[in-house]
Amino acid sequence: MQPIDLAIIGGTGLYRLAGLESPREASLPTPFGHASAPARVGTLAGRRVAFLARHGEGHSVAPHRINYRANLHMLHALGARRVLALNTVGGITPRFAPRALGVPDQIIDYTWGRESTFCDAPGAAVQHAEFAEPYDADLRAALLRAGSDAGVELVEGGCYAATQGPRLETRAEISRLRRDGCDVVGMTGMPEAALARELDLAYACLVIVANWAAGCDPAGRDAAPITMDEVLGNVEAASGLLPALIEALMQQ
Ligand code: HPA
Repeated sequence: MQPIDLAIIGGTGLYRLAGLESPREASLPTPFGHASAPARVGTLAGRRVAFLARHGEGHSVAPHRINYRANLHMLHALGARRVLALNTVGGITPRFAPRALGVPDQIIDYTWGRESTFCDAPGAAVQHAEFAEPYDADLRAALLRAGSDAGVELVEGGCYAATQGPRLETRAEISRLRRDGCDVVGMTGMPEAALARELDLAYACLVIVANWAAGCDPAGRDAAPITMDEVLGNVEAASGLLPALIEALMQQ
């Protein structure tokens, strides 16, 4: 099997990878069940790239129902060793305004009840994956370099709060996340990052800020409620920068 230079997992509003040439569907069963969708494997800047829609290609799988284990296991089995996760988030702190792109360096996991380890597989040895730095340093650095090469501004660092969803958070919950030191909030960052570490995949995350998290709009507490139109509109606008960024990443 030919190796895949980079696998990209797309989140809300990101169901196809612009610029992926001659994509071919690739799908494998896994011991954990089926992935959210087949991967699309093609060429980008002369390198082999796979794309997987985390929520399914029609956004049919809710964050707490995603089979994160099958998604990562399949990408690994297809030959991927580096994974770039694209995650749509709400911005909590001022650097993460709607339409910003960022490369977080920490995670706090508030999810519950998700299948969050491969150790549960029959006969698997118990592992205690090292996770002090949850994202791969080299892939993060490459992404930040790609941002400067392509002239795409990226917010560097920050803590990703992974919440259970699928509902959005209350203002009190977001105040707590802010006190905990979180900068952005999303529903899909975990257990994906931890499972990637268990498989020894080099994994990094690019967040796309879709909205201010509840109560964070600097315009004040009475700001309009978050709507899906706002979320998808901002993701679409910000994702216009992705083809240049990913091409620069693949040229390194
Ligand atoms: N909260 C959680 N997840 C999200 C948000 C949010 O405000 N926006 C996009 N994904």
